[in-house]
Amino acid sequence: MARMVRHEQLGPYEIKPQEKSAWVCGCGLSKNLPLCDGSHKLCRTHEAEPGKLYIYDRERKAIARVENDG
Ligand code: FES
Repeated sequence: MARMVRHEQLGPYEIKPQEKSAWVCGCGLSKNLPLCDGSHKLCRTHEAEPGKLYIYDRERKAIARVENDG
């Protein structure tokens, strides 16, 4: 499943060494990048269709549009 998320950060995020595991967001929806904030649950609330591009709203809380990917 492809997804389009608006990123406005222009530089890297520093992840300092930690004693416990740090979960880095892989879905692109976290509002606490680069760390996961649980927003990936939205990716699992709908049936993602192969070949579709899911475009999220600015708040990353809902799917704004679904387009054919390709
Ligand atoms: S993997 Fe992106 S919010 Fe959890």
